[in-house]
Amino acid sequence: MSDSTKPFRIGIAGLGTVGCGVVKVFQRNTDVITTRSSRDIEIISVIAANKNQERGVDLSKYEWASSLSDMAQDKRLDAVVEMIGGSDGQAKDFIIEAIKNGKHIVTANKALLAHHGFELSKLAEDNNVSITYEAAVAGGIPIIKTLREGLAANKITTVYGILNGTCNYILSKMRETERSFDDVLKEAQEKGFAEADPSFDVDGIDAAHKLVLLGALAFGVKPDFKSLEIEGISHVTMRDIKHADDLGYRIKLIGMVQRDGDSVVQTMAPCFVPKNGAMGSVEGAYNAVMTQGDFSDETFIVGQGAGEEPTASSVVADIIDLAKGNYLPTFGVKVKELDKVEWQGTETLNCQCYIHLHVKDVPGVIADITACLKDKNVSIDSFIQKGHEEDGTASVAIITHSTHFKKVQNAINSVRELSSVLDKPTLMRIEDI
Ligand SMILES: NC(=O)c1ccc[n+]([C@@H]2O[C@H](COP(=O)([O-])OP(=O)(O)OC[C@H]3O[C@@H](n4cnc5c(N)ncnc54)[C@H](OP(=O)(O)O)[C@@H]3O)[C@@H](O)[C@H]2O)c1
Repeated sequence: MSDSTKPFRIGIAGLGTVGCGVVKVFQRNTDVITTRSSRDIEIISVIAANKNQERGVDLSKYEWASSLSDMAQDKRLDAVVEMIGGSDGQAKDFIIEAIKNGKHIVTANKALLAHHGFELSKLAEDNNVSITYEAAVAGGIPIIKTLREGLAANKITTVYGILNGTCNYILSKMRETERSFDDVLKEAQEKGFAEADPSFDVDGIDAAHKLVLLGALAFGVKPDFKSLEIEGISHVTMRDIKHADDLGYRIKLIGMVQRDGDSVVQTMAPCFVPKNGAMGSVEGAYNAVMTQGDFSDETFIVGQGAGEEPTASSVVADIIDLAKGNYLPTFGVKVKELDKVEWQGTETLNCQCYIHLHVKDVPGVIADITACLKDKNVSIDSFIQKGHEEDGTASVAIITHSTHFKKVQNAINSVRELSSVLDKPTLMRIEDI
């Protein structure tokens, strides 16, 4: 444990968007940070891949560490701030070495924690240090602290999240401008909202990494990335978005982790949500997290999910916590207290669903579709057939009553076999959030 009469000393590894943001927060808000920590916090050393790169921030007061390993072993440091990224490789080796050398860890690296969080939390516990990661989930939204501390008295049943700003921006823009996914993605890349390789974002992987951490914290369980079903947004069409709008919904990439007894389901998929509801109102690059607890009831937080300043704000909040001596287990409880649960697939969920079918506009096609649904015990809440295309096809949108998701999946498999059904049907859950 560090001596609170002395400054709390840190090293920062990685000086990109977030790392430089952290330096700027310290330089601009030294007074409030010192007061709230009740002690000075000193950046002793920094390191990035390229020492000579101009970074738009004054680094002249800090030492440049000779290597990541040197920083990890530096006896002067109380904590290291890992802002490099990546689930394996340098960032992981650095964190392991720093933990073994008694340093607390501050990281924004959701990929690393989603895949190796359990082993790292065990190592941290064995070495009496903490791993903090507020910035790893939902950027500037303090959801880790909310779950780990603010809601600690509750049994959490469900956590929902819009956890990727790029996806939410694309879906919002598609609806507002009635443009295709590819078109809006290209614009997002030009404006710097999306990466040159957008697959981590649009395939739902980035959001899934964050959801796994929320689930682990909410239920005090080992993060389990493998059991998470992930579907991205690249197949969402303007037609689905219009159908959603006509029916009173928005389409959002929704992460959900839900516990029922010893069973936990985790899923990341585009869903219909009521357009005037909490999640439906979250537009653009914003993130949001909703929790349901047995005493707290529903909580809902919205904020900037990424970017230099919001993310750095969360990183510095973690550093202040450590400087104050607020050391907590990585997933809220000690490793040996982590609960054992059964990870279930989405087929066990009960929900209403949206189905879209592109069909040949021939007599009897609707009767065939409804027969398939009836056969699998899926009943229809509403049905829209949108006009007739010039090519002799039609677009059919169905909203089911709430039922076992597995039944709807089975019904869709039967519908796909019909010769009058063209293209792969679209199936999305409807979440009333
Ligand atoms: N950007 C966001 O809005 C955001 C939001 C939430 C979480 N995060 C997470 O924050 C972390 C950092 O993201 P970022 O956007 O700041 O990334 P970034 O801009 O790409 O910065 C990465 C930094 O790591 C440095 N680096 C790479 N290899 C290194 C090595 N071997 N030794 C030392 N430094 C090395 C790079 O050095 P050079 O600059 O010299 O190349 C760069 O400064 C990631 O885990 C990311 O997932 C980011």
